[in-house]
Amino acid sequence: MGFRILGTGSALPARSVTNDDLSEFLDTSDEWIFPRTGIRSRRICADETLDDLSVEACRLALEAAGVTPDQLDLIICSTTSGDHLIPAEACAIAERLGASCPAFDVSAACAGFVFALDVADGYFARGRAERVLVVAAEKMSRLVDWEDRATCVLFGDGAAAAVLGAGGESPLAMRLETEPSVDILHVPGIGGSSPYDRTEHPANVLAMEGRRVFKFGVNAICSSVSALCEEAGVSVEDIDHFVFHQANERILSSAVSRLGIDPARVARVLEETGNISSACIPLALDRLARSGELASGQLVVLVGFGAGLDTGACLLRWE
Ligand code: UT7
Repeated sequence: MGFRILGTGSALPARSVTNDDLSEFLDTSDEWIFPRTGIRSRRICADETLDDLSVEACRLALEAAGVTPDQLDLIICSTTSGDHLIPAEACAIAERLGASCPAFDVSAACAGFVFALDVADGYFARGRAERVLVVAAEKMSRLVDWEDRATCVLFGDGAAAAVLGAGGESPLAMRLETEPSVDILHVPGIGGSSPYDRTEHPANVLAMEGRRVFKFGVNAICSSVSALCEEAGVSVEDIDHFVFHQANERILSSAVSRLGIDPARVARVLEETGNISSACIPLALDRLARSGELASGQLVVLVGFGAGLDTGACLLRWE
């Protein structure tokens, strides 16, 4: 038994930080950032917590789906930057929503939303759930080094959610992969204060080999799209919408030209959001759904890629 998406929702912080704003305290400029990334501004939490954004995104998704929190059988949150190390971000969301179902987090960096969909799919397949809330919530502004112009300009904060119902055609294909490599994109954990610990604790800010991630991203998109099409027995031309992780406009355009697909069918939100890690894909999906661009029966490909190096890709039927 598969699932279908019953409703989506998203929430961004109120504060928009432009490239010009960043150039007030960093040696950078819109002239450098925009042509290399496609990013003009990003939303950064000032007064909102990640719990606030997550709950707002979930409420909107539940409303769109016509589902109440007490009807949920499971809440899965994809995050690497939650408000709590313990408990899971999903538990904080459940508490604020007034839901009493099991709730836990999935950590697969920018691919996390698709990994969470696959976990949810397992619950449907085993007949363990009728309605699952999958939310991706990221406060990247707490992970980046605000003195490192090569990384902090790329990221933003936000949350987006989807309510899944049992009994649909999705996923028509699913593919999760890990090419293990920690150092390419890494945020060390907190050091703690154990009197016994003699290991080193680097600063727990995000460090990245940008060019290697760039190449990995383009390859991940292209190989995933081909593999999904093969698994589902469809051709690339049959896909109506491509929702790829929003890391860099140049990654998207390289993949578009390599795959030979119509750029108009590729969702883009990053110009005004930056890279919100795992929240990018459900945010782009929510924008498509709310703009009326998604028609019943259409095929939608999702590809998330990032730290791990993880890639999560799936082919959905919009129903
Ligand atoms: O979810 C996945 C997350 N990861 C990614 O999205 C990363 C993918 N990679 C990229 O998007 C690109 O590699 C970047 C946009 C991060 C960097 O672009 P690049 O063309 O690979 O630049 P670079 O790192 O090779 O840096 C070129 C120059 C350097 O100066 P020098 O050494 O040539 O003098 C950097 O110091 O650009 C400089 N630079 C900047 N200058 C102004 C790096 N960042 C900035 C900046 N403003 N923000």
